[in-house]
Amino acid sequence: MAKLFIFLSAFLGILTTLISAQSSPFEMVTLVKIGYATAELAEHYHRLDVTYKTINATAIKAAVLVPKKLAASNKKTDAPVVVHFHGGGLIIGTNLEPVFIADWVTQLPVSTNSILVSPLYRLLPEANAPETLSDISSFWSWLHTSLPSVITSAYPKINTNLNQIVTVGESAGGYLAVQSALLFQEKAKIKAVIAQYPAIWPDLAAWGSLPLPDPTNEAVIKAGKVIDEYLGNLTGTEIRIDAPYPDRWELTEAALLSGRSFEFWGDETDIAQSGLGYALNVSRQWGDKLPGFWVLQGENDGMVAQAGTEEFLARLKGVHPGVEVKYTLRPGLHGFDALYGLDKPFIAEGVRWVKGFWLRGKN
Ligand SMILES: *[C@@H]1O[C@H](CO)[C@@H](O)[C@H](O)[C@H]1NC(C)=O
Ligand SMILES: *[C@@H]1O[C@H](CO)[C@@H](O)[C@H](O)[C@H]1NC(C)=O
Ligand SMILES: *[C@@H]1O[C@H](CO)[C@@H](O)[C@H](O)[C@H]1NC(C)=O
Repeated sequence: MAKLFIFLSAFLGILTTLISAQSSPFEMVTLVKIGYATAELAEHYHRLDVTYKTINATAIKAAVLVPKKLAASNKKTDAPVVVHFHGGGLIIGTNLEPVFIADWVTQLPVSTNSILVSPLYRLLPEANAPETLSDISSFWSWLHTSLPSVITSAYPKINTNLNQIVTVGESAGGYLAVQSALLFQEKAKIKAVIAQYPAIWPDLAAWGSLPLPDPTNEAVIKAGKVIDEYLGNLTGTEIRIDAPYPDRWELTEAALLSGRSFEFWGDETDIAQSGLGYALNVSRQWGDKLPGFWVLQGENDGMVAQAGTEEFLARLKGVHPGVEVKYTLRPGLHGFDALYGLDKPFIAEGVRWVKGFWLRGKN
């Protein structure tokens, strides 16, 4: 009950702000869970933070979480791997961002005795999107070369099973999970992708169907000023890898309200290289080595449109007619699944489907 109340107040709060700002609100439901997810993760996991890449003296780390009950076991165990990418429009958030990560995602590694890994990555607008993707690429190299020794040096009885990798992410994290499979599958060796409302590719035709922000609207003008001031302050050498909510929420909101998000992705070439068309072209060489994809979408999502997610699925199937996809469309807003556990029937069904690829070697 308390949880529902917090959830509703947070949701209504943000909705009110956005509705009063503009007639086409960007809705989301997950500004709720900060205490809950933080407590759950602390209660059920041991955590290490390990540097996977260093750029100009900035260490970029991945959180490595081992379920306490797995760590306490006396038996030699082969542990599967769950790789999580946090959302936040590539602009905000931290790894395992408690405001965004779904409850069932925090439960999945415990229920399967798996290792949970969640990297930080360079955020926009200090970085451009190809730089963010290059961190994701480095992360996959690190995971395959270094994660097993990181685990065995702390937990000698646990063997990291790199043949059993699932990747999951919400929103921008879903985009990074899908991009991982399309761009980096040769080294990432992903068995299944779980993508929650991932369709933020700049080259989706669905963006064209959204109403353009009214340039005379006061809130849109203000949003433009926030962006101009933020960009004007940058010298070009800053690196940001961490912006836990509510840090930079104003900037994110401004990017959404003004319709200027893709300015943050870089120049025309950067944007093209971060698009779906480019990733699908790269993915042609993986042929039948692609993982299975479970894609979730809320019908009332005002941030990532249903049409965008369905366009992604159609284009994926266009290039890979044999690809295995499970699509779960449910009533609800951005983050509609965030408060559900693994016991929610449609989640249980999706997880069962994913296990066929992830743990039982289908594909
Ligand atoms: C690293 O620092 C140098 C010198 O300030 C700068 O030219 C370069 O762009 C920086 N690299 C990144 C990736 O930020
Ligand atoms: C830009 O820099 C000025 C001066 O340091 C500071 O007062 C302002 O808050 C900064 N604006 C943003 C959007 O970061
Ligand atoms: C993808 O490949 C096709 C065929 O080679 C090419 O025409 C198209 O420009 C490529 N798209 C991108 C975004 O690279």
